[in-house]
Amino acid sequence: MKGVILAGGLGSRLLPCTKITNKHLLPVYDQPMVHYPLRCLASAGIDEIMLVTGGSFAGDFLQLLGNGKEFGLKDLHYTYQEGEGGIADALRLAEDFADGGKIAVILGDNIVEYSIRSAVEAYEAQGSGARILLKTVPDPERFGVPVFEDGRIVRVEEKPSNPLSDFAVTGIYFYDHQVFEMIRDLKPSDRGELEISDVNNMYIERGQLEWSELEGWWTDAGTFPSLLRASQLVAESGANKTT
Ligand code: DAU
Repeated sequence: MKGVILAGGLGSRLLPCTKITNKHLLPVYDQPMVHYPLRCLASAGIDEIMLVTGGSFAGDFLQLLGNGKEFGLKDLHYTYQEGEGGIADALRLAEDFADGGKIAVILGDNIVEYSIRSAVEAYEAQGSGARILLKTVPDPERFGVPVFEDGRIVRVEEKPSNPLSDFAVTGIYFYDHQVFEMIRDLKPSDRGELEISDVNNMYIERGQLEWSELEGWWTDAGTFPSLLRASQLVAESGANKTT
């Protein structure tokens, strides 16, 4: 399975730091943020990866990551997202790279404690459709939140003011080739973005969305409080050494 890291967007929640660099190049404890999603995929056996980035500092990723050899990758591809059209808009750019196969997608600001290898294996065994990883959080209103009926997810609500579960949809997704056709049908949300939660809802409508619960801690790092928390979690757990 190939992997895609989404590291576009303007990082406006981390201004003024993101005036002079890309959000995913900022340090989380002792590593640039993008190292964590890269290692997350690589440690799960995914060694062909495309990085989607954008903005004024895109060239810095090449300087930092090169051809990915340092991370044990077979190949590291790059592409460029114009503007900030949303997560699904960034993913759209990986269609040729995916070449009709299944992909593992991770957001460039997501950091996990343990390997996701078991989720990769579960998705490989799944056949077709999509798989998302959930994690209980104290503040689900900040995330995509699944709504359950009889143990099945009936929809995902993006940043609901009254969350109907205490799970967050983490920024780790597994999709088959249908995802690109679905993205073509998306309409921008109220915040003007093509939302990944809308893609997940399309899979739900087709009865093709499975989920697993992520083991260990998980955090995003896209706001100052979560960036600080990410550094603390990494420093305390040594996740920078193991993932
Ligand atoms: O972290 C998990 C959450 O990520 C999910 O629970 C939400 O459902 C999902 O919408 C997303 O929420 P955020 O509001 O936190 O996403 P954000 O705009 O911060 O973007 C997260 C990453 O996605 C960012 O670090 C890079 C990538 N991205 C984002 C945008 C808007 C792109 O590559 N291009 C973009 O245009």
